[in-house]
Amino acid sequence: MASVTARAPAKINLQLAVGARRADGFHELATVFHAVSLYDDVTASEAKELRVTVGSDRDISTGDVPTDGRNLAARAAILLAEHTGLDPDVHLHLHKGIPTAGGMAGGSADAAAALVACDALWGTALPRSELHVLAAQLGSDVPFPLTGGTAVGMGRGEVLTPALARGRFEWVLAIASEGLPTPDVYAECDRLRGRRVLPEPRVTDGLMAALRSGDAHALGGALRNDLQPAACSLRPELRQALDLGEEHGALGGIVSGSGPTVAFLARGTEHALDIAVALGASGVSESVKRASGPAPAARIVEAAGPRRI
Ligand code: C5P
Repeated sequence: MASVTARAPAKINLQLAVGARRADGFHELATVFHAVSLYDDVTASEAKELRVTVGSDRDISTGDVPTDGRNLAARAAILLAEHTGLDPDVHLHLHKGIPTAGGMAGGSADAAAALVACDALWGTALPRSELHVLAAQLGSDVPFPLTGGTAVGMGRGEVLTPALARGRFEWVLAIASEGLPTPDVYAECDRLRGRRVLPEPRVTDGLMAALRSGDAHALGGALRNDLQPAACSLRPELRQALDLGEEHGALGGIVSGSGPTVAFLARGTEHALDIAVALGASGVSESVKRASGPAPAARIVEAAGPRRI
């Protein structure tokens, strides 16, 4: 039987500047996405009807991943099928290596991987730019895993420009046991800001210079997330994790996206191990992972059997 497996990376936002709420309910953003080396695999196989199953690495819970029409990978398969005039008769098996509901865009990675896998399985061979348009219809964070690396995101996050970046960065991720719903975090951000007049969101020159030169110290000092006060307001214990990372010499610490995962930048692999051990021993988070970035875009890692050409 024909099957294709695509692999897509997690992301952290090195900066997330949140502007005013727009008429469509979304917020105007200026963000820098950075793909890191945690991956979800989506295997698309021929089937009589659309079906989703989920597995994961041992330390990742999948309890809150829907397998019905709410699943973003299923919605991606349906959208691609509609767009190309096919039936979405496919079995999607998701293998999750990205913490779920953690602000690392695991669901978006699944959708991006499903687009790439189904496009190959069905022989529709769309250009990446067309997959990108479909991805943007699925969610603000879905296009980025199709680009990978490090990229500036504008609009609601879906308008991407690859960023000039050198070197590799070592990250430690403190993962909470329970997710934070993204809409709740944006709503809390609005509430905390009240009626304040907001400037146009923008990414700082300091961050872009740090990326161009591959300077981890400068990058650590340039990490910013406008959603962090809101995530910490809803989950005060995130502050403890941030303080602990700082105590252990992290070059910077930041809530990832809408949280609740907290990402720490280490000086190198040994320092990352030290921070990971300290966080693990403290019990401030459910689990700790290490990852490096930038990581590559969603890509096919395995294909078997005859496919439609
Ligand atoms: O696009 P996505 O489905 O990931 O967005 C989830 C929710 O996050 C939106 O419904 C909205 O509440 C919030 N959001 C926002 N502004 C953005 C992106 C997301 O308010 N730019």
